[in-house]
Amino acid sequence: MIINILRIGDPRLLERSREVAPADRPALATLLADMRDTMIAHDGAGLAAPQIGVPLRVVIFGVEHNPRYPDAEPVPYTELVNPVLTPLTDDEEDGWEGCLSVPGLRGVVPRYTRLRYEGLDPAGKRIVRDVEGFHARVVQHECDHLDGILYPQRIRDMRKFGFTEVLFPEGAERE
Ligand code: NI
Repeated sequence: MIINILRIGDPRLLERSREVAPADRPALATLLADMRDTMIAHDGAGLAAPQIGVPLRVVIFGVEHNPRYPDAEPVPYTELVNPVLTPLTDDEEDGWEGCLSVPGLRGVVPRYTRLRYEGLDPAGKRIVRDVEGFHARVVQHECDHLDGILYPQRIRDMRKFGFTEVLFPEGAERE
């Protein structure tokens, strides 16, 4: 089911979400199906549970060809419960980001270029992946939502923040 996405200004987006506990497991399949339906309906690259008003540490992401991110390298569709991120470098890279909770806008955000993410899949099996580039960026963006952080809080140069259609009148949505 497609769920209404909370938008920036809603205090629920600023809260820390809690770990998924065994008692939450029965509700997980429905939550993930709703998140997937909602992300696909909006051509998102990812979605975090708090964006649909559920304060649990659950994110999904994945990019095949996405019209919102036409130049993005593919990222396998992933459902991640209780994720933990560990940067594998101090190197950061600037890149354009958008967010379904900040509609119509884009900003340049620094992110670690390489990181390890760990967590559980919906069946409770451990996921450990070392990733880089856009994949690493998407994971950092989505996991920030679990700590109540929206990407505008990460922008260092506010001159690189604006409406997508003004920034990219030709339709290209990234650098
Ligand atoms: Ni977002």
